[in-house]
Amino acid sequence: MMLRAPADAAQVRPAQRATGRLHVPGDKSISHRYALLGAIADGATRVTGYSSGADCAATLACLRALGVPIETPEPGTVLISGRGLHGLSPPAGPVDAANSGTTMRLLAGLAAAHRFRTVITGDPSLSRRPMRRVIAPLTQMGASISSQDGRPPLTIDGAALHGITYRPDVPSAQVKSSLLLAGLHASGRTAVVEPAATRDHTERAFQAFGVPVERDGLTVAVSGGQRLRGRPLRVPGDISGAAFWLALAAGLPGSLVEIDDVGLNPSRIAMLDVLRRAGAVVEVSVKTEDAGEPIGRITVAAGERRSFAVDPAEVPGLIDELPALGALGAMLPEGSTMEVRGAAELRVKESDRISALAAGFRALGADVSEYPDGFRIEARPLHGATVDAAGDHRLAMAFAVAACAASTPTTITGAAAVAVSYPRFFEELERLTTYAASRIRSACRSSATVSTTSRRPTWLSSSRRARTRSSR
Ligand code: S3P
Repeated sequence: MMLRAPADAAQVRPAQRATGRLHVPGDKSISHRYALLGAIADGATRVTGYSSGADCAATLACLRALGVPIETPEPGTVLISGRGLHGLSPPAGPVDAANSGTTMRLLAGLAAAHRFRTVITGDPSLSRRPMRRVIAPLTQMGASISSQDGRPPLTIDGAALHGITYRPDVPSAQVKSSLLLAGLHASGRTAVVEPAATRDHTERAFQAFGVPVERDGLTVAVSGGQRLRGRPLRVPGDISGAAFWLALAAGLPGSLVEIDDVGLNPSRIAMLDVLRRAGAVVEVSVKTEDAGEPIGRITVAAGERRSFAVDPAEVPGLIDELPALGALGAMLPEGSTMEVRGAAELRVKESDRISALAAGFRALGADVSEYPDGFRIEARPLHGATVDAAGDHRLAMAFAVAACAASTPTTITGAAAVAVSYPRFFEELERLTTYAASRIRSACRSSATVSTTSRRPTWLSSSRRARTRSSR
């Protein structure tokens, strides 16, 4: 009997190993920033390698609604006619950030500086996410913002802003970037003192657009009124998308995966150290740089897999990679462990990633303990199951990776969410992996509950026919 995947579900079969070379979609964080800065720059900005994900498409749609002419002559290329500082126009209705927290928080910084009303809405997941972290400082700068008890939609009445020095409670590149974008339009100096360093794409992008940024330890500051110069830009591959292939290669013995033209910004590569501690063989080479962003190749081969922990101090540098690292934890030899603490922010991402990851890995057979700020996985032999990605792109990919090490096929519901950052994820999974028919056969012999006897050496992904997120 074939296991049938319902709509918006993907079926993943056991894999022997993962091998191959690939490119990943353009970096999501960098794509958002280049679009937003291109919109307020003087002159034209041509972006290549722009993320193919729905999140970055949402940023373009919001900017168009705010009067920015944007063309996409071919996939991955975006031409933006900059409107200059204070150059956005009042939107005809609410602008929709869809599933994208980065779109909502960064755009709030721009909207706060434009003297008209902007309402920013989101999908049900985004509508549950905390926005006080940007509402409070943008209000201090002079904007008026109302929300649903600190959650979207945000109704922003923009104003003439003044610079402030702000100390966010949580390390957040989104908060820092929102304030720096507002600060560009404010009088005086806007400074953010971070509790811990976060990704610095905004700082690098400001400089690439010709705006100097002061950086001193954990303080980042910009002076208002500086003009940005439009320019050509290339977005590197997204290391947070690559993370799933790195975890897969590290977790399946005999694997070797090479990722080309991927972003190697030092504030984004903390996962590579963790992979090494988990026993993987990791090689990195920087080949070039564009707009201050290093770009190169990562090669990961499976080594002697062993227990690992993520230090709380590492968390801000790999917050988006924790689902992939959780998958690797579940794929370790039986009895090995993976632990992360200091990651309470995971509870307010596209889903409550701590409880949803724990539920999914448990369903696959791992022994998982949940903490308020993290989780601990003790590896057990994995078996196929039906797991729910809770509409969260990174969970769908993490479960797909762990499912490769299971004895029988797994159905992932809510898997169409991969479109948020990695629309072709399941096709790549199929291409990179070798079907583990023997593992299925031995599981069939030893388990009365498994009825699949299919020998089709392919991944079954319904993502191609699944409804897209935006139509749900
Ligand atoms: C992002 C920052 C991170 C990250 C998100 C993208 C960004 O969020 O989780 O996926 O582009 O600035 P926080 O800054 O809120 O931690």
